[in-house]
Amino acid sequence: MCGIIGYTGSDPAVPILLDGLKKLEYRGYDSAGIAVQTKDGLHMIKASGKVEHLAALAAQAPDLEGVCGIGHTRWATHGSPTDINAHPHMSADGRFAIVHNGIIENYLEIKKDLEEKGVVFASETDTEVIVQLLAYYYDGDVRKSLTRTIRRLEGSYALAVLCADVPGTVFAARMSSPLIVGVGAGENYFASDITALIRHTKDVIDLEDGETAEISPDSVVIYDRYGSRTEKAPRHILWDIAAAEKGGYDHFMMKEIMEQPQALQATIVPRIKGGQIVLDSVELDMTKFDRILITACGSAYHAGCVGRIVIESLCRIPVEAEVASEFRYRDAVINEKTLVIVISQSGETADTIAALKEGKNKGASTLAIVNVVGSTIAKLADQVIYTWAGPEIAVATTKGYVTQLAILDLFAVWAARKLGRLDDASYKKLVKGLKALPAQAQRALDLSAGVKRLAALYHDRQSIFFIGRNLDYALAMEGSLKLKEISYLHSEAYAAGELKHGTIALIEPGRLVVALCCCERLYEKTASNIQQVKARGATVLAVAQESKRQVYGEADHVLQVPDCHPLLFPVTEIIPLQLLAYYVALENGCDIDKPKNLAKSVTVE
Ligand code: G6P
Repeated sequence: MCGIIGYTGSDPAVPILLDGLKKLEYRGYDSAGIAVQTKDGLHMIKASGKVEHLAALAAQAPDLEGVCGIGHTRWATHGSPTDINAHPHMSADGRFAIVHNGIIENYLEIKKDLEEKGVVFASETDTEVIVQLLAYYYDGDVRKSLTRTIRRLEGSYALAVLCADVPGTVFAARMSSPLIVGVGAGENYFASDITALIRHTKDVIDLEDGETAEISPDSVVIYDRYGSRTEKAPRHILWDIAAAEKGGYDHFMMKEIMEQPQALQATIVPRIKGGQIVLDSVELDMTKFDRILITACGSAYHAGCVGRIVIESLCRIPVEAEVASEFRYRDAVINEKTLVIVISQSGETADTIAALKEGKNKGASTLAIVNVVGSTIAKLADQVIYTWAGPEIAVATTKGYVTQLAILDLFAVWAARKLGRLDDASYKKLVKGLKALPAQAQRALDLSAGVKRLAALYHDRQSIFFIGRNLDYALAMEGSLKLKEISYLHSEAYAAGELKHGTIALIEPGRLVVALCCCERLYEKTASNIQQVKARGATVLAVAQESKRQVYGEADHVLQVPDCHPLLFPVTEIIPLQLLAYYVALENGCDIDKPKNLAKSVTVE
């Protein structure tokens, strides 16, 4: 949550900061601000609303000339999204300005202490204590003051700091919130992630927890958690600016939906060599485990629900899936015979990180499925498999989710083979099925025009139900979440067989029920549930595989996806559901890439 950027060089800082903030807006967008070192000291502007609004204010602010500055786009935690609570925050003496991503858990205690010493606070935020502490400890040495300040902080932070006394330098510190250094020629940067910097440099250094850093136009200096200088070589990013731009689409979400065949190709194809699944990065003795626990948040958890069924079905090991925010506090019975799999697009989700630590503390082996290279989860887990989805910008995940499914499928087949639980013929069929997925996803995208027409018919419904059994139920959960998060329609996902135990009371004439019917062996059962809701007046939109022609006799509308292997169809089945959410949101005039109250990277509990 929240995006931060810092710049020092020889170009005007304001356009660079604003452009970086626009790229970081997916992390939070309720208010934004920038601070610049000018010839007259530090100047800042900040306001509630999106970066666009800030940019309009900046265009009229004459006193923001400078070549060194910091910026922030916020997702409010402490204090509502007002102008005053927006970042940057300045010390009462105007000497320091900071931007912060994270939460200071002991801020009340520090605030009380400083207030007793006469410091007057301007905002309701936890962040302000940091900048007031910096000023309080300052005796002419910023690094010393920063060290003393962060020693007092409990919680998480990625900080960028300006001091009026040190022109051309931005200071930074990191603890449990992502922060990178962008290394340029005659200019250097800090940012929450690469998308903010890719226009300027592809060479980045990942800061670790406990590290602090200082950048000036010609130098990058990093200190380890003990305060000793440390040398870190930059890594070179391979993707280019186009990956972080809309590329002609109206929204990142549609661009990312359309990119799914390529993302699947990049994720699956290099891992199949000579007809064998090769997971180079994984060293696991699968015979050691008597249980697998998958844990994640949001859509990544829904991917885990698919993975649970596929892995258990092929490996014959009990598999559970649980949301990370519950698992982390449950004191679950896990031990060295448990494999804990965590799934995260960003690799920075706070609850997923905590769940991973919980697994490690209890002696389990840990495997992470992550998209962002070098992220906290990727570094913490014993083993990592990357989803090569490329950068995902839209808040609602699409290509991130399908590539998570692909990795779970690859892993399930790989593990079952290692365990000797897959005969040659079944293995070959699955490998063939996996290889076919990118092309099948491409064909599923052809449903776009038909889904758009359906969205025009049903966008004004009060509530939409999604039903399905087994893998179809796991997909119903994701389809329903997609719709809620971007269109704000009420929606529920139900195990089709469970509907009659209460929820069917909500089915009334005109209610739209999306019935997922790709699970071949349970088709007849779901078809009965379709009849039950139709008998009560519901309109049914069914999603089924192409060979299931009889579905036309059951449902009012049918969307058919290519026939896939019976365990692999979720990768295609989700595509019409993503499109439905997108077009309903479009019809309803919603801000698709930045839905209200959400953020892409949830780094708070
Ligand atoms: C947020 C996003 C979701 C995402 C979830 C988990 O809620 O809006 O799209 O599924 O976080 O994120 P992760 O990065 O861990 O996959």
